[in-house]
Formats: sequence, structure tokens, C-alpha cells
Amino acid sequence: MEKIKVGVAGYGTIGSRLADGVALQDDMELVGIVGHSPSLAIRALAENDMIGVNGVEYKLYLVDMDLKPRFDALGIPVEGSFEELCEKVDVMLDASPGGTGAANKAIYERLGVKAIFQGGEKNSVADVFFHGYANYDLGLGKQFLKLTSCNTTGLIRAVDCLDRKFGIEKVAITIIRRVADPGDYHRGLTNALQMEKAPSHQAVDLMTIMPHIAATGILVHTPVTHGHIITVLATAKDGRKITREEAIEAFRAHPRIRTVTIDEGFKGNASFFKYARDLGNRRADMYEIGLWEDSVVESGNDIMFAINIPQESVTIPETIDGVRAVMQMQTTSAEATAATNKNLKIGRFKK
Ligand SMILES: NC(=O)c1ccc[n+]([C@@H]2O[C@H](COP(=O)([O-])OP(=O)(O)OC[C@H]3O[C@@H](n4cnc5c(N)ncnc54)[C@H](OP(=O)(O)O)[C@@H]3O)[C@@H](O)[C@H]2O)c1
Repeated sequence: MEKIKVGVAGYGTIGSRLADGVALQDDMELVGIVGHSPSLAIRALAENDMIGVNGVEYKLYLVDMDLKPRFDALGIPVEGSFEELCEKVDVMLDASPGGTGAANKAIYERLGVKAIFQGGEKNSVADVFFHGYANYDLGLGKQFLKLTSCNTTGLIRAVDCLDRKFGIEKVAITIIRRVADPGDYHRGLTNALQMEKAPSHQAVDLMTIMPHIAATGILVHTPVTHGHIITVLATAKDGRKITREEAIEAFRAHPRIRTVTIDEGFKGNASFFKYARDLGNRRADMYEIGLWEDSVVESGNDIMFAINIPQESVTIPETIDGVRAVMQMQTTSAEATAATNKNLKIGRFKK
């Protein structure tokens, strides 16, 4: 089978990781990345001779060719313009700053290229608000998908895991949200918690993707950068009780959920980041969400648990699933997520 040709627009927190994710797929080709300014991420790539993961060359295209002299001055090779890249690919993964993807959409429409947007865009930017496990079928053959945000991606993974096994009627969540990504100086140096108006968008988003579940929740911003934590209280359908053991068994079997315990050293969000760094994962990324087995408790018939969301990398697998859906590479979520997982080596810790 000929490889699906993929481009990535924006080489920031998400775009750099999407490029890596695509470069690791054995049935996709990373044709190029689109940069804006000669950012540190692009300069680091150039210093490594434009070679990313898997020995793949990341060819650079520019949003604005008027800025090319700045790249020339730094000796960074430029392959062409944003539009030239769009003409060479089947799918563009748009990881430009939130709201910019909607403007880029005009280019994708004009050139008839498929595109997958990230969580910072409005839902109206795409035909389908997408998650690789919860609504893969709806993405099949579509031109435009929008991925869920980092928190929603991880939250839906966990709720969908229980929903498939037991049938979930209702969830209530609390999100303890990291305030910035590492290196986000523009967000300031903070030492305070900040409340959002309820319900949080993640609960509303979950209902958009999984309309059979009533969801609500509260979000509190915290001045940390290494991961969000979400607590979930889930109620099964028809008064069915989910036991702690049943829930843990279901979570353990899910490839994109890493179940851990506090006693083995996973004390909090930073433990996951440090562990990913010890694993030698590029940029200390982790594709799986973390789930503390010690946090799984019964409350009457309801089940409550806490998950860790590695915000910089969690949406990469579901975005790759999106490529599989729009290109109809696989016709079911099970086949598509399995292919993505194999190439990203997700689930290898379960061996
Ligand atoms: N960060 C997270 O934790 C996270 C998690 C999930 C989803 N998301 C979503 O992912 C998207 C990207 O966020 P991010 O955190 O990766 O942002 P980011 O780190 O600021 O990266 C955005 C990149 O896009 C480049 N860019 C600027 N204008 C562009 C244009 N017109 N076309 C293409 N690229 C352009 C920027 O270059 P310059 O810096 O040179 O201007 C930058 O490299 C947003 O929708 C966001 O909501 C973010």
C-alpha cells in the first residue's frame, strides 16, 4: 500500500510532537512541516541537520515566505511555502496557535486537502469533533476533523473504557489544570489557583462526542507545567454497580491507559514526567494517560478515580487515528487505534 502523505502546520508544542508521531508510522510519510518564525524548536532541528525521529528528514516550509531571509541568515534550509506543502500531501495536521487553524482552513479548502485541527479551534472549523476511540466511525472519509483538547482526549479515553465495558450514564469531573507548558514565559510567573466558570468545556465536549453520557465538572488552574490531573466520578447505566476491581481490570487492559500506584513511586504529575525522561522518551513525552489504582474508589454504585494528562503529547495518538479515519486506512476504531499504537509503541509497558 502506498504511504499516506502527511504535512504538519506549526512546529510548536503539539506540531513538533505530531511530526514525530507521523515519522514513526510505517504507513505514513512525513512530507514536511510548516514553520512561522525561526523558533528555538526549528533552530534545534536545523542544528540536528533537520533529522527528526526514525532518521526522517523534516523538510521545512514557511507560513510567510517574506520571512525566508531570517532563516537564510541562520543557515536553515527552506523547502518552499505552506501552500506548496499542501499541494504535496493527502492530510495536513494543523497545530498552529488556537484560532489560526480556522484561517488556514481557507488554504486547505482552496487546495482540496484534508486537515485535522487541534483543540484550540472552534468545533465549527471541522465536519466532526473527533476521538479515535469514542467516535472513529464519524470521521471516516471526512475532509475536516477537530481533535479534542488534551484533557478531553484523556478523559474520554478513560470514560469510553468504562462505557464500553459497563455502559456509563453520567460523569462528574474535577480538573486540576496545569497553567502553562514548560517554557511558556508569556504566561508569567504565577503562584495562585484560578477558578473557571462551571461547567468546564471538557465536560461539555465529552457530551458532544458521547451524547449518551450526562457530564458536568469544575476546573481549577494551578501554577504547574507537568500535566493535568482529572478526578472522575462515573455512574453506570440502569443502577449497575461498577466494582473497584472491575474498573481497574478494564483500565489495565486499555493500551493508552498506564495504571500505576503511589507506592511504586508515582506520587504525582511530576513523577510521570520524570519517568518518561528516564525512559529516554523524546522530550519526556508520554502518549498514555496515567491512572492511579490507589485512586479508584467506590461511592455507592458509582466509581471514582484520578488520571494524569501529559498535555503536550496526549493528543498525538488520537490525531494519528484521525489520519486513518479521513483516509479510510482502517474502517474500525479497533483496527485504526491498534495500528497507531503499534507504530508509537504504545502499550509496550504492559508486557
Ligand atoms: N500545548 C498543549 O498542551 C496543547 C494540548 C492539546 C492541544 N493543544 C492545541 O494545539 C494547538 C497548538 O497549540 P501549541 O501549544 O502547540 O501552540 P504553540 O506551541 O504556540 O505552537 C504553535 C506553532 O504554530 C506556529 N504558527 C504561527 N502562525 C502560524 C500559521 N499561520 N500557520 C501555521 N503555523 C503557525 C508558531 O510559530 P511561531 O512561534 O514562530 O509564531 C508555533 O510554532 C492549539 O489549537 C492548542 O489549543 C495544545
